[in-house]
Amino acid sequence: MKNTIVVGSQWGDEGKAKVIDVLAEHADVVIRFQGGANAGHTVVVGDQEFVFHLIPSAIMRPTKTCVIGNGVVLDPAQLLHEIEELEGRGFDVRGRLWLAENMQIVMPWHVQLDKLKEKAAGKNAIGTTGRGIGPAYVDKVARSGIRLIDLLDPEGLRFKVESILEEKNILFTKVYEAEALQAAPIVAQYLEYGRKLAPLVANAALLLEKAIKTGKHLLFEGAQGTILDVDHGTYPYVTSSNTIAGSACCGSGVGPTAIQSVIGVVKAYTTRVGNGPFPTELDSELGESLRKWGGEYGATTGRARRCGWFDAMVVRKAVRVNGITGLAITKVDVLDQLPEIQVCVGYKSEGKVLEDLPMQMREFENVEPVYETLPGWMSDTSKAVSWADLPENAKKYLERLAELVGAPIAMVSVGPRRDQAIFLP
Ligand code: GDP
Ligand code: IMO
Ligand code: MG
Repeated sequence: MKNTIVVGSQWGDEGKAKVIDVLAEHADVVIRFQGGANAGHTVVVGDQEFVFHLIPSAIMRPTKTCVIGNGVVLDPAQLLHEIEELEGRGFDVRGRLWLAENMQIVMPWHVQLDKLKEKAAGKNAIGTTGRGIGPAYVDKVARSGIRLIDLLDPEGLRFKVESILEEKNILFTKVYEAEALQAAPIVAQYLEYGRKLAPLVANAALLLEKAIKTGKHLLFEGAQGTILDVDHGTYPYVTSSNTIAGSACCGSGVGPTAIQSVIGVVKAYTTRVGNGPFPTELDSELGESLRKWGGEYGATTGRARRCGWFDAMVVRKAVRVNGITGLAITKVDVLDQLPEIQVCVGYKSEGKVLEDLPMQMREFENVEPVYETLPGWMSDTSKAVSWADLPENAKKYLERLAELVGAPIAMVSVGPRRDQAIFLP
């Protein structure tokens, strides 16, 4: 297997975790490189379901090494909870889960600020997951963040928390009229997290260099999706990290010359959680049916996902900005019952055909999707194990998607389970 980056190509929840779990069979090290516990990654193995927010989705494969890279913002309580849950279910992570020492920590003031900002924004809220992600990245870039390595240094941590809170508490009490946070209990709690996590802390970039040099295969697990990217997405209705493939290098310390392929995970239709433009949204009974058939409820917040038709403009952009070399098209089975399926092949704005997604959100909100209608297959795809098993119309649908977005299909997923995956040569 080549060193591969797996990214979401739409607005997240494309089924990245399922694809990672399947591809990990042929990889040695799986690395998360951005985002945080805003991600909700679901893996189904046999009759067991696992939802990960921080731990790479290959952890149930006992011979694989998993790394959380420096580009992630880490909520230590959430990570410890995930570790405990895995251990409780008989999966040992010690000695094969490593955490980059230079990773940023999500602190209680980040979570509080995320919630206060969203509440204050009212109808203009972004619809965040409330996990403190935005404020944690703000402080990283402002150089006032706390890093994992700081949790191992009692004196240094106390000094940092006290000086950061001097400023944050003015914001909380004077601007938001909320309670001030006390430094001492936070310091004690985060030092305790540090003590628990210390055996997992590593120089992750060095570890990955050694893995590459000894011929190990790397698989990078993206979180969120391309159109939630802070630069390339529907700003400001985005997450606060770069979600695209280029971010895998910054967020892990592996250089771009070590990477050979990029898999773009694509849902066979489109979903979005949170606010912001969504031209192909089906605000109708059909949208409701897609939600029901696809189980489209957020793995992190439980919110109903907005559902709509496949949007080739969105995925074409994803192919471009990620350099996608192969598509993994998921949830094809969800469309099994439809007699006809629509695909958005382009956008019009004020009568003009657009070449790309508008960067001005007012324009994006008002684009007119141009649709092509394809016949459905009205039969069960969930038991297909090869391309030849798929109904003719399903093959035609998938081939048309690949043609529209300009990338070849590498994999098709027809159900949540590990064995419901079809590989193309
Ligand atoms: P991620 O965030 O991209 O990893 O995706 P999520 O885990 O948030 O959401 C994808 C959901 O679809 C999960 O419940 C998966 O178990 C499920 N899933 C993944 N692939 C398929 C598929 O091919 N068919 C069906 N029906 N469900 C799938
Ligand atoms: P996975 O990895 C879908 C969305 C939120 C909100 C916006 C900003 O499971 O695909 P944030 O909490 O990041 O500041 O919220 O981004 N969002 C996701 N949507 N899947 C995700 O992750 C998401 N992570 C964040 O709903 O619209
Ligand atoms: Mg998800």
